[in-house]
Amino acid sequence: MKVTVFGIGYVGLVQAAVMAEVGHDVVCIDVDQNKVDKLKQGHIPIFEPGLTPLVKSNYEAGRVDFTTDAARGVEHGEVIFIAVGTPPDEDGSADLKYVLAVAKTIATHMTKHKIVINKSTVPVGTADRVKAKIDETLTQLGKTATFDVVSNPEFLKEGAAVNDCMRPDRIILGTDSAKAEKKLRELYSPFNRNHDKIIVMDIRSAELTKYAANCMLATKISFMNEMANLAELLGADIENVRKGIGSDPRIGYQFIYPGCGYGGSCFPKDVQALARSAQSVGYTAKVLEAVEAVNYAQKEKLFEYILRHFNGDVAGKTVALWGLSFKPNTDDMREASSRVLMEKLWAAGAKVKAFDPEAMEETQRIYGSRPELSLMGTKEAALEGADFLVICTEWQAFRAPDFDLIKSKLSLPLIFDGRNLFEPKLMLEYGLHYYAIGRGLSVKEH
Ligand code: UDX
Repeated sequence: MKVTVFGIGYVGLVQAAVMAEVGHDVVCIDVDQNKVDKLKQGHIPIFEPGLTPLVKSNYEAGRVDFTTDAARGVEHGEVIFIAVGTPPDEDGSADLKYVLAVAKTIATHMTKHKIVINKSTVPVGTADRVKAKIDETLTQLGKTATFDVVSNPEFLKEGAAVNDCMRPDRIILGTDSAKAEKKLRELYSPFNRNHDKIIVMDIRSAELTKYAANCMLATKISFMNEMANLAELLGADIENVRKGIGSDPRIGYQFIYPGCGYGGSCFPKDVQALARSAQSVGYTAKVLEAVEAVNYAQKEKLFEYILRHFNGDVAGKTVALWGLSFKPNTDDMREASSRVLMEKLWAAGAKVKAFDPEAMEETQRIYGSRPELSLMGTKEAALEGADFLVICTEWQAFRAPDFDLIKSKLSLPLIFDGRNLFEPKLMLEYGLHYYAIGRGLSVKEH
C-alpha cells in the first residue's frame, strides 16, 4: 500500500520504518532538509535500538524515501499519517499548529480521495479540527475532493519502539467511515497476527484513549512516589510495600516503581494537556493535577536528600552522576530528572561529573561547555575526584557496580540512588551510606 508519513520524529520514523519492513511503499516528509539529507545518508537522528539497520535496509531496498517535497508526499499516499509534534504551549495545552499546517498542505495538494490518520497525540476534538481545516482549504482553493480523518494513536515506548510497533498490543482505530476502517485493517494486517488487536471506536474516544492510557500510567507512578514519601516518614520500606501490593493481580507489578520522578516526551506533556483540556470544558481534573504536582516535587527529592545530608551546604562539592537520560535505552533528555538535579546542584555551587551510556552528546547539546559540568567517558571515570555518587537512571550497566571501587574513588562513602537499584543492607556491609527513595529504614541508619 502507498503510505505517506508527515513528520520524521520519533513516532513518524519508527512507524515509517516498520511499515516499509512489511512491504508497504512509504514516503516520509519533513520540513527539515538537513534531517532528510542525513537520513538518506543513513544517519538516524535518534538513538533507538534496532532502528538504524531497519531504516537503512528499507531505504536501500527503495521501500522508504525521505523528502521535503510535500506535494509529492500528498500525491503518493492513499493513506497519509500526520506524525508531527504537538509541543505544549504556554499554558500546557497541546499546540496544534504543526498538525493543522499538515492538514492545510494535504488539502492544497490532494487530487483524489485520501485517508488522513492522526498519529500525533492530540486533544479530543482534533480530528474535527483537521477535517474543518481540510474543508476550509479546499473551499478556498475552489476544489472538491473527498477524504476521511481517522484517529490512530501511537503507544510505543522509547527504547522499545521498534518492537512495540512491530508487535503492538492494540491498534486503536477511531473512525466513522467503514471504507477507512477496511483500508486500515488491510494496512495493519501484517501487524495484526495471532489474535485481532484492532479496536474500532468513535473518533473522540480514540483520541481520549491515548491520554487516558498515559495518564493512568503516570498516576500509578505518582501514587507510588507518594507512598514512598510516606513510607520514609513512617519508617517503612517502600520496596516491601511494592512487592506486597504488586502481588494483587488487580494492581500488578508494572509501573509501580518509585523513583526520582517520571520524565520523557509523553507523561509530563500529556498529563498537563489533559488537565488543561478538562479546564477548557469547565472540569477540574483533581487527580491529574495531583499527579503532576507529586511528580514535580519528586524530581527535587534527590537534591533534598543531598542538602539534608550536608546541612544545607553543598558549595564546592563535586558530584559523580550516573544516568542522564529520562530512562534507560534512550538518549532522550526531555523532562529528565537528572536535569532538575544538575541545575539545582549548580545553583548551590556544586560541580557535576556525569556519565550516561547514550545521552552524553544530547547533554552536551543542551548545556554546552560549562565549568560546572564534566562529561566522562565511563562510569568509573565519573567517580574520579568526586565526593559522592548520585544515580538518576536505571541503566542495566549500573546495577552491579564494583562497590569497593566506588568507595575507594569517592572522598565520602556516600550514594544517593534515585532508582532504588541496591539493597540497603548490602550497602551497609560495604560501608557505604546509602539513600534511596522511600526506604526509610536505610535512611534512618545514618
Ligand atoms: C510512555 C508510555 O509508556 C507509552 O505507552 C507512550 O506511548 C509514551 O509514553 P515513554 O515515555 O517512552 O513511554 O517511557 P516509559 O517507559 O513509559 O517511562 C516514562 C517515565 O516513567 C520514565 O522516566 C521512567 O523512569 C518512569 N517510571 C516508569 C517510573 O518512575 N516508575 C515506573 O514504575 C515506571
